[in-house]
Amino acid sequence: MVRTFILKSSEGRTAPDFSLKSLAGSGGRMDLIARCIIATFAIPRGIRKDAILSIVLEGPPNPPVTVTMDGRDLNRRIISEVEAAEVLRDALSGRPVGGVRVERKSFERLIREMPRGSLYYLHENGEEIGRVKIGKDPIFVLGDQKGIDEKGERVLDEAGAKRVSLGPISYLASHCIVIINNELDQMIVEE
Ligand SMILES: C[S@@+](CC[C@H](N)C(=O)[O-])C[C@H]1O[C@@H](n2cnc3c(N)ncnc32)[C@H](O)[C@@H]1O
Repeated sequence: MVRTFILKSSEGRTAPDFSLKSLAGSGGRMDLIARCIIATFAIPRGIRKDAILSIVLEGPPNPPVTVTMDGRDLNRRIISEVEAAEVLRDALSGRPVGGVRVERKSFERLIREMPRGSLYYLHENGEEIGRVKIGKDPIFVLGDQKGIDEKGERVLDEAGAKRVSLGPISYLASHCIVIINNELDQMIVEE
């Protein structure tokens, strides 16, 4: 099973000109994105191979840009927020980074390309995750500090994404990824 996460980042900067010393400010909440990268891939023995993360950057100066990181081919150490942001910065600079693809692709196009029936929209008011049958190779979509806007939600509804909740409390996006990774790891052990 490969799990994919899609993070819609409404302010994530679309140029490599952000400062590694000010990820929350100059990078358009690059700190949040960096934490999502760590939550998706970092494990004590290296990089999780069974995960993919697509980050849709919608901030200035040139949106949209989608950066996709595939754990099977990632060859960089990603433990700290700075290391995670460096990978993103290198990729946005046009430098080849193993396992990372940069495309001029919108959230709408990305979602439409995903196989129908595999999409789960993480939402506080969705169906409790424990009651949902998660299919093979699931794709989880989550918002940033602002959540997902109305247009994004419409795109998800049209694509048939199922709303799934981790409970009534609103968690940080990166924490949602950790929870999902853990849920899926347990499902695999039980199979
Ligand atoms: C920090 S939250 C967004 C909070 C934002 N203020 C809002 O109202 O949407 C970031 C994302 O994490 C996901 N999320 C947070 N808590 C969740 C929960 N309890 N169940 C499912 N998804 C959750 C959602 O995808 C959300 O867009």
